[in-house]
Amino acid sequence: MVTCQVGAEPAVKSELARRWPALRFSYSRPGFLTFKFPPECSLADDFDLESIFARAYAFSLGKVAGADLDCMAAEVWRVWGDRPVERVHVWERDTAAPGEHGFEPSITPAAVEAADAIRRRCPRTGELPAKAFDLNRPASPGDRVMDCVIVRPDEWWVGTHRARSVPSRWPGGMMPLELPPDAVSRAWLKMEEALRWSQLPIPPGARCAEIGSAPGGASQALLARGFQVLGIDPAAMHPAVLNHPQFTHLRRRVVQVRRREFRAVRWLMADMNVAPRYTLDAVEPIVTHREVSIRGMLLTLKLSEWRLAEELPEHVERVRNWGYNWVRVRQLQHNRQEVCLAALQKPFRRKPPVRRV
Ligand SMILES: C[S@@+](CC[C@H](N)C(=O)[O-])C[C@H]1O[C@@H](n2cnc3c(N)ncnc32)[C@H](O)[C@@H]1O
Repeated sequence: MVTCQVGAEPAVKSELARRWPALRFSYSRPGFLTFKFPPECSLADDFDLESIFARAYAFSLGKVAGADLDCMAAEVWRVWGDRPVERVHVWERDTAAPGEHGFEPSITPAAVEAADAIRRRCPRTGELPAKAFDLNRPASPGDRVMDCVIVRPDEWWVGTHRARSVPSRWPGGMMPLELPPDAVSRAWLKMEEALRWSQLPIPPGARCAEIGSAPGGASQALLARGFQVLGIDPAAMHPAVLNHPQFTHLRRRVVQVRRREFRAVRWLMADMNVAPRYTLDAVEPIVTHREVSIRGMLLTLKLSEWRLAEELPEHVERVRNWGYNWVRVRQLQHNRQEVCLAALQKPFRRKPPVRRV
């Protein structure tokens, strides 16, 4: 079973059909899908679905139905049986597309209430500490997780996975991030989640550049980590960012910036409101320039139309061809109709200095 952004269901189906031809689509509601593997398929419990659009996934064990919270919680344990368990993850499927009527994917009060009922009805007294049910704490790598997705108040789906990747450690793949009161845009959330998800090894004091930096929420997240930030945007930066001693603004379009300006930059971010192909066209001459050595990137690729999702494998290939041997793409919890591409050179091959005569 898979949960995703509302609207991303066809993209999930299409990428899984490409990656796992044996998988058969079975059931869906907005933001929730199930698939069947053939019975002869045996998969590891920490199996990686390698999906961009699945925010979370688990092996489904069955569903429970009812009207009473405590009865449903007891039913969850009956479905679970005597399997070992270290963590319980409960979340609600998204009920609207992000931003629609202010909707933001998150751990909802209904999920907390259901987790509480599952804790109360836990038959393994003493085996599971209260923190195993805390939806604001990540599971540890290796934990066996009971998953419960609230598809409707009276329909919960029970499943299991083993925690491994960063998103698989959080209920529904959602980190409890809160926009700081002084954040100048919600891009802070996107950048913070992208840094935590990708775990790019950006050292303290690193030089980063962000193309499409205004008004500056993402730059704030970078500055707060002690990085130096070069912001490139023809639009105005918020004064709170502009006046930060570690921030420099190049108030231009990226094509108007000389490549030399990127010589000291090692980490490149981009968040432009343009098509993915245009973002990559803007980034390519920078990262392939003989005087520029970019070690890693976080690029937001906007899917102004869902059909652009079909082109993502092509874009990944293009980035690999620039010398990035580690490339991952994920539709983050805080992404709207867009995805985040993370790329890294492992190991870093800094280009030799150009000798001028
Ligand atoms: C989604 S906003 C960026 C939000 C920003 N990252 C933040 O943290 O607040 C997109 C930005 O891309 C900028 N942009 C669009 N085309 C650009 C280009 N060719 N060069 C530089 N910036 C560009 C726009 O001016 C706009 O400010």
